[in-house]
Amino acid sequence: MLQLPSAELHLHIEGTLEPELIFELAERNGIALPYADLADLRDRYEFTDLQSFLDLYYSNMDVLRTEADFADITRAYLRRAAAAGVRHAEIMMDPQAHLVRGVALETCVNGVASALAGSEAEFGVSTGLIAAFLRDRPAGEALQVLEELLAMDAPIIGIGLDSAEVGHPPSGFVAVYERARAAGLRRIAHAGEEGPPEYVWEALDLLGVERIDHGIRCLEDDALVERLAAEQVPLTVCPLSNVRLRAVDTLKDHPLPAMLARGLNVCVNSDDPAYFGGYVDDNFGQLRETFGLSADELATLAANSVRSAFVAQQRREALL
Ligand code: ADE
Ligand code: ZN
Repeated sequence: MLQLPSAELHLHIEGTLEPELIFELAERNGIALPYADLADLRDRYEFTDLQSFLDLYYSNMDVLRTEADFADITRAYLRRAAAAGVRHAEIMMDPQAHLVRGVALETCVNGVASALAGSEAEFGVSTGLIAAFLRDRPAGEALQVLEELLAMDAPIIGIGLDSAEVGHPPSGFVAVYERARAAGLRRIAHAGEEGPPEYVWEALDLLGVERIDHGIRCLEDDALVERLAAEQVPLTVCPLSNVRLRAVDTLKDHPLPAMLARGLNVCVNSDDPAYFGGYVDDNFGQLRETFGLSADELATLAANSVRSAFVAQQRREALL
């Protein structure tokens, strides 16, 4: 573990649901889990690709039913993030994954938001909430949920795009991102995790995103690398996630050092830490061990996270 004062910019709150909390919430809500015990659940944390993870991720979030459940997972993450050195967190949530289970938008949004509202005072972590839309569901549904979020004046700073990438290019979501832009929201999207460099181009050119989540496959396209470097587009990279979802074979094969060497604006994040073997401090620690990163390189990664955060200049200066 290596605690560096930093901002975490790529984090799915539903991916912070630790196995113990899954059992606790199942009991609280009277839900019968399809696992014999904790060990049986943990045995299933072996993934072959993104979809194999998403199947377990969507299934486990069924224990989240009440506003208190959403507030509790959020507080648990903030406590752990603060211990990891995180001083600012921009947190994605997947509203559609709850709506399809019959959980009201107000329940999930207000639960997460209530925990975030107390975060600076309780944990010293400033926060922002980002509604991520599921790219493997219809874009019309995403647009409708965005309209509902705007109508309820949800305290979101931006929108994202996640879930199964291949076969679901950014180009399908232009209207959603156009509406978000008109509403003054920040825009990010997962691209180039499993999907090809073309999806990164589309996210930039068609959706107008300000950050790319993952983006590791950009290295297959020199013109794209040049564009990303020239514009210093932030790439929120998640090394342990990429290993566990088999986007790379081992951490030694991770392209993060190559990305830094090409002048890309890369920062380190945990994605779904309860599933991928560690929080942001674990990511930093394993990167240092694997690549022998220097103090300067680690400081650059931490500073990149702060300069890529959606915060006012005053807060940015306080974080640097
Ligand atoms: N949802 C949660 N984690 C994700 C990831 N790594 N990629 C795409 N969608 C996700
Ligand atoms: Zn992600």
